[in-house]
Amino acid sequence: MCRSAAAVLAVLTALLCAMQQCAAARRNQPLNYRPIIGVLAQENIPDDQYAHGFSYIAASYVKFLEGAGARVVPVRINRTEEEYAHIFNAINGLLLPGGDVNIQTSQYSRAAKIFYDLALKANDAGDYFPIWGTCQGFQQLSVLTANKNLLTITDTKAVALPLTLTPAAQSSRLFRSFPKDLLQSLAVENITGNFHKWSLSLQNYSRNAKLKRFYKVLSTNNDGKKEFISTMEAQRYPFYAVQWHPEKTPFEWVDKPGMTHSPTAIRVSFYTSSFFISEAMKNQHHFPSLVEEERALIYNFSPVFRGMNSIFIQNYYFD
Ligand SMILES: *[C@@H]1O[C@H](CO)[C@@H](O)[C@H](O)[C@H]1NC(C)=O
Ligand SMILES: *[C@@H]1O[C@H](CO)[C@@H](O)[C@H](O)[C@H]1NC(C)=O
Ligand SMILES: *[C@@H]1O[C@H](CO)[C@@H](O)[C@H](O)[C@H]1NC(C)=O
Repeated sequence: MCRSAAAVLAVLTALLCAMQQCAAARRNQPLNYRPIIGVLAQENIPDDQYAHGFSYIAASYVKFLEGAGARVVPVRINRTEEEYAHIFNAINGLLLPGGDVNIQTSQYSRAAKIFYDLALKANDAGDYFPIWGTCQGFQQLSVLTANKNLLTITDTKAVALPLTLTPAAQSSRLFRSFPKDLLQSLAVENITGNFHKWSLSLQNYSRNAKLKRFYKVLSTNNDGKKEFISTMEAQRYPFYAVQWHPEKTPFEWVDKPGMTHSPTAIRVSFYTSSFFISEAMKNQHHFPSLVEEERALIYNFSPVFRGMNSIFIQNYYFD
């Protein structure tokens, strides 16, 4: 009894030391100024007349990341777990974009889960790997953490809102990096674009022990009936989720309610992407060779112009 307890203690101590060493080693590592972000593709929108292949990435997500100093690798759906593990070890962060696929049965959700599990494991071992979820990506992260779908319908299909910042926002990793005047603008101006039918209500979040333990709520919004979470970050992992769309303000131009292009909205977009990229710079993953890196980058694909009235002005399409 005593002996096995001592053995367990020894293993735990060794593990803790190893983790601390990893953390210390990471602190001493220079930042990675050539970060590469994986952006997850998803099943094509039904009847997309511009589509070729079976999946797409909206170009605005790519521009959003490129504008903050990152390069992008498309993470395509319908790939093997081995292939995803290989990509995971080559990229410095993952972005789960918005869209409209099933977040429990789609290939998008399958790939998201594989990367989420890899990221949990990596971070636990001191290998800092950030994940960003926008809109559907936010919802996907909530489903992955709670292990069930707790979303509810809200009246938020096309509306720009100010964020109701929580007390936790001030000291959060994400918003701490914003200039004070910009945070103030976020709190009073209608500059966060909402284009979603589903939301994570504050009520369901509060009643779910897993979500509550995992995420800090940084902002909420209200559709007049339900209070839902609009921004959150994980307590112990570099995982971030926004229900609103920082990538649309500078890069999408469909003229509809909720779309804003004011200077403050554009600055919010930049500070958001810049924060995420600063997180990715703490990661040292890389491709086995520069040749392989070059083959994987999104420059090998050309975005398709879909017309001024499309929700996504340009998409990348993939097999
Ligand atoms: C992708 O995977 C899904 C589910 O496994 C399958 O139904 C579908 O046919 C696959 N699509 C392609 C183009 O391989
Ligand atoms: C809570 O989640 C359930 C699904 O588990 C959903 O049916 C319900 O509408 C949600 N309620 C609120 C208030 O979000
Ligand atoms: C912001 O949007 C809300 C909801 O649409 C609206 O009630 C409010 O008047 C708007 N505020 C400003 C300053 O435009």
